[in-house]
Amino acid sequence: MRRFSLYFLLLLTLPLAGCSPFSSVAVLNPKGEQAKEQVDLITLSISLMALVFLVVLILFIRFVYKYRQRPGYTPDPIHQNRNKKFELIWTISPFIILFILAVPMIQTTFGEEQESKSPSDLTVKVTASHYWWRFEYPGQGIETAEELHLPKGKKVTLVLHSTDVIHSFWVPQLGGKLDVIPGRTNKLSLTPLENGTYQGKCAELCGKSHANMRFKVKVENEDDFNSWIAGLKSGNQTQSLSKSEAEGKSLFNENCLTCHAVEAQVENKKGPNLAGFAERERVAGILPNTKEHLEDWMKDPQKFKPGSEMPKVKGLDKKEYEKLAEYLQTLH
Ligand code: CUA
Repeated sequence: MRRFSLYFLLLLTLPLAGCSPFSSVAVLNPKGEQAKEQVDLITLSISLMALVFLVVLILFIRFVYKYRQRPGYTPDPIHQNRNKKFELIWTISPFIILFILAVPMIQTTFGEEQESKSPSDLTVKVTASHYWWRFEYPGQGIETAEELHLPKGKKVTLVLHSTDVIHSFWVPQLGGKLDVIPGRTNKLSLTPLENGTYQGKCAELCGKSHANMRFKVKVENEDDFNSWIAGLKSGNQTQSLSKSEAEGKSLFNENCLTCHAVEAQVENKKGPNLAGFAERERVAGILPNTKEHLEDWMKDPQKFKPGSEMPKVKGLDKKEYEKLAEYLQTLH
């Protein structure tokens, strides 16, 4: 029995491990305005809950002791001495507690849903598909995938769409989460306050690779953000390619160009836009961005992302995969 309790306790630590600072998605460490508001709400409701729990616990212990069975004591089942004051206190205090909870909750929630009216603010169209994220910047005329870049201190309105099932957009350090529903447009506002890279993930079970539907949000100074945009626009065409990179390019054009664009201005191809791919931290949002991982990914996407719509790049020999990877690493 003792051993069983020990195992049970150990098992209980598993769900808690999800909150540890070692896990990749930091939940209660806000770096954005909305995330801060949300953490404040969580703190407020937990404190009130703890207060209620404490009061109930103290009363419970007191009553259990006071009305315990003992010689010479017979409980009186008829309430003869009503105490109006107490009755009023326990009737009114829940209303007060609910009021304290409801006012900031409603204020914050509706405040966050309000779309930005200022023309200087940013709008990004986010599209979720099995199992990746498309990010379009209509004002800037570019598209990217898997890594969302945002300028610090600016309010951004994310317009969320899904092409297949229900996903959920979640970057806990910046705020969220919000369902991404096919046939519906949801809007989410974020205001990042600190530079850095934040982990995002899909928070709604959406299929085999739900756990792999990760993305990153890179928050940078406005100047860096603007030069990122400018870099994507002028892009990779200016760069001269080596012989094997050029061969990789023609392999890419034969095999991949139907689904993937390599220019940021080309929008809405079937697969992720690969402009600036060499700068990304991950292949397909999950594997470290090295040539080896890239080759592994192209040879068998299903191995890393089961259910992914990316087909195997077939019929190439080892050298050709290498060339293809080399070419992709030139996309800055
Ligand atoms: Cu998309 Cu889970």
